[in-house]
Amino acid sequence: MHPHNLSFLQQGDSIMPSDTITLTDERTGKTYTLPIEDGTVRSMDLRKIRTDDADFGLMAYDPAFVNTASCRSSITYLDGERGILEYRGYPIETLAEHCSFLEVAYLLVFGDLPNETELKAWANEITCRTMLHENIGKFMEGFRYDAHPMSMLVSSIAALSTLYPDAKEVRDPVNRLHQTKRLIAKVPSIAAMCYRHAVGFPYVYPDNDLSYTENLMNMMWKMVEPKYAANPVLARALDVLFILHADHEQNCSTNTMRSVGSSMADPYLAVSAAAAALSGSLHGGANEQVLRMLEEIGSKDRVPAYIERVKNGEVKLMGFGHRVYKNYDPRAKIIKWTAEQVFRVTGRNPKLDIALELERIALEDEYFIERKLYPNVDFYSGIIYQAMGFKPEFFTVLFAIPRTVGWLAQWDEMHRDPEQKIARPRQIYTGERQRPFVPMQERHAVLTAKQ
Ligand code: CMC
Repeated sequence: MHPHNLSFLQQGDSIMPSDTITLTDERTGKTYTLPIEDGTVRSMDLRKIRTDDADFGLMAYDPAFVNTASCRSSITYLDGERGILEYRGYPIETLAEHCSFLEVAYLLVFGDLPNETELKAWANEITCRTMLHENIGKFMEGFRYDAHPMSMLVSSIAALSTLYPDAKEVRDPVNRLHQTKRLIAKVPSIAAMCYRHAVGFPYVYPDNDLSYTENLMNMMWKMVEPKYAANPVLARALDVLFILHADHEQNCSTNTMRSVGSSMADPYLAVSAAAAALSGSLHGGANEQVLRMLEEIGSKDRVPAYIERVKNGEVKLMGFGHRVYKNYDPRAKIIKWTAEQVFRVTGRNPKLDIALELERIALEDEYFIERKLYPNVDFYSGIIYQAMGFKPEFFTVLFAIPRTVGWLAQWDEMHRDPEQKIARPRQIYTGERQRPFVPMQERHAVLTAKQ
């Protein structure tokens, strides 16, 4: 062994000698042996690599967390190269075919599928919490008539925090479960209010006779009929879409949920922050942008010209590409199938032909092949939602409802993980230091000069 070898392995450690990596620091000539566990090295082990005692130690630099695992998780398995997605070990295709959304929510929260009695009790626990405090309705009245539904959703979920001060006890697992049930129950009620506010109709109270998705449809679309009857095909399609959107491991909004939650913020504030992250056009907001893009393209014959604009870097092909999937997004496949079911009821959305043509041309084009760009979950979901009667600005809200379950499961997992602490990345400081202070009368107009 090299005389300077500073092995971080202690005697008796169970890691096999081969599960290590040896690095040589050419600055000092020292070599270091770092353990490799689950295909990772610990960033904190790098800290021990120093030029001298005054050196802070090596850090990992990873803007946008492209190659950094931030946690251990047993919720969602994703293999982006092979296009595999599993919740708690069950393939997404199986869950979408056989389960209801609340059944999958139970699986994500508790780790196992419920039996019949457990599912009944769970559905009841959620259903009996769907009612909102009247203050939320008054709070919503303050929004302008044309407020974006996602902004209303984010603000109103945060406002729930004012009603449930008990939610601050985030270290208590029983309390966390209680708040989890409340949020899963109340987010659809808020979402429906955002919709009713936008169209100027009175809010509709939940109907506990109905399933989770039927009740959402009821709260959005019930007019003067005494009892709302949801179309079963559309309700099932919504259930499937919700299952597909329920979790997706450490994406931008889930990372936000964990990050905000790590400061011990209450779950209403953390879910609100996660929903804010979801609203962006590169994340959940992409489904709205796909529809805007299809509207802009207008017809199938204009697809090649649009593809050229994408390749020239003028625009992005919304609903295409993914940080993790370098293969067809398995959710997009199921959504395409669901679209066919929905169109049998609603009639075919003509935008589907434009989308199919975009996909066909893109999948044959070198630009997309080289970069492994495939349709993602947002590519087809908006077309279905529009056929069902939702407006594009509401699409991301329909993403946020089921993702709330994933956020909460991940939040609970974070609180149970003894390795987790307040999230706090490092930086490489690139600014100036120790500048001499310049009195006001001697300063130049810096900003105007820079503009
Ligand atoms: N259209 C055209 N080019 C693209 C696209 C796209 N949609 N996505 C990626 N590229 C190009 C990108 O320009 C880059 O090219 P080059 O190497 O020449 O610079 C290359 O592909 C790699 O892309 P990247 O930007 O480094 O990839 P990323 O992992 O940082 O971004 C993404 C992932 C999803 C933000 C991106 O693919 C994108 O902006 N897609 C469109 C928005 C979208 O559909 N978002 C929904 C994502 S899935 C559901 C969700 O998360 O909510």
